[in-house]
Amino acid sequence: MNITIAGAGYVGLVTSACLAEIGHIVICFDKDTEKIEDLNRGWCPIFEPGLQEMISRNMGEERLFFTDQANLAYEDADCILITVGTPQRADGSADTTNIDQAALDIAENIQKDVAVAIKSTVPIGTNERIEAVILDNAMPGLTVEVISNPEFLREGSGIYDTFHGDRIVIGSSHERAARIVEEIYQPLAIPVLHTDPRSAEMIKYASNTFLAAKISFINEIANLCDLSGANIEDVSTGMGMDKRIGNQFLNAGIGYGGSCFPKDTQALEQMARQNDYDFKILRAVREVNDRQKQTLYRKAKNLAGNLSGKRTAVLGLSFKPNTDDIREAPSLDLIRDLLDEGADVVVYDPVAMEKVQRLFGDKISYASSIDEAIERAELAFIVTEWKEIKEFSLSKYRESMKTPLLFDGRNCYSVKETEKHGIQYVSVGRPGVPDTYTGSRPTDAF
Ligand code: UDX
Repeated sequence: MNITIAGAGYVGLVTSACLAEIGHIVICFDKDTEKIEDLNRGWCPIFEPGLQEMISRNMGEERLFFTDQANLAYEDADCILITVGTPQRADGSADTTNIDQAALDIAENIQKDVAVAIKSTVPIGTNERIEAVILDNAMPGLTVEVISNPEFLREGSGIYDTFHGDRIVIGSSHERAARIVEEIYQPLAIPVLHTDPRSAEMIKYASNTFLAAKISFINEIANLCDLSGANIEDVSTGMGMDKRIGNQFLNAGIGYGGSCFPKDTQALEQMARQNDYDFKILRAVREVNDRQKQTLYRKAKNLAGNLSGKRTAVLGLSFKPNTDDIREAPSLDLIRDLLDEGADVVVYDPVAMEKVQRLFGDKISYASSIDEAIERAELAFIVTEWKEIKEFSLSKYRESMKTPLLFDGRNCYSVKETEKHGIQYVSVGRPGVPDTYTGSRPTDAF
């Protein structure tokens, strides 16, 4: 089967490499000539663990090809997976311009019957609309069946998620196209859910926004823990032991970021508005997250007062570890707040420095290591829980900083350990309580 992937962004590249890895012949198409030239020279434009090697290996074995020529990409395709981006419009809704363009390219270039699967996150009803666009513009007599096949890949573990996903969702009113797409994934042995296209489109939005809600919920509980003397780690553990709740996505912190949760919550909110429905929880999820991104900064202001002129280290810039993606990253809000206060900001991240430099230029300084960033600092903030940041020795904070005042947005250290090292430590939802509390909680704490 000839598979074409339309769009060499994050999802397109990971999917192309993984499908080639399991033996398919894959052509990945993108209009961006520079990107395609880079890929053909063996350079992967995104940072994703294991991806560069997987792409090189499959290009070497002639299972994976990259092109910017739409005719080469589509004329022999049996199945086309659309993975182009659906960025956010000013009103919060998803912009499907790239999907429409891909549909026209496909229509103009296909020479035979084809199954088209939309993997991009798209508003409800898009699959049906795109099928009509392709059929209206394609050579008469061709059978084109469009189905919904949303992706659930997490940045930083996209390859793992492709091979070990919890489910493959196929939303289709066409048996043949559904069968073709199911066959592509068959070697992965992942459970498949068949449904209609609209429900498949909704599953993607509902899943992402539910996870975002889980994070905002636990962040609110953490804030209440701060005020009431409870420990969010024990609370999360205790909640997660209930199988109905599940123990994932219960890590309180400095708020969610990235290319999906912020965008998808707003898009679903907007979709609800268009249907005259007030999706109250979603609005709260977003507002809580906006507030949470400021939580460390507020705590720092309360504790350290005027931050003007104070050397302040920001550790971790990407929206989460193992990616260089800084879209909607909490670090950016924090840096802006600190700059507004006149703080002297120095940042460090293992891979995302270049992107941050493009945004802030010489307004902040860039350290080449954690040691360099915290040297003589009066405050330090942990924003992203990269392994090297999580495992960084506490004694070094004590030795290198002018005043060891550490704000941890990811609860990387045990409160007790920081106390032992003489560090003034502020984390999220753990107001100086022992790690493992064995007795009953004091009732007067409330
Ligand atoms: C998400 C979805 O998980 C994936 O299925 C979807 O298709 C794309 O969007 P991604 O944005 O790459 O993936 O990362 P994810 O691991 O889900 O984390 C999103 C954000 O939530 C990060 O900022 C992370 O730090 C935050 N998070 C996650 C928490 O704050 N607490 C948690 O317990 C889990």
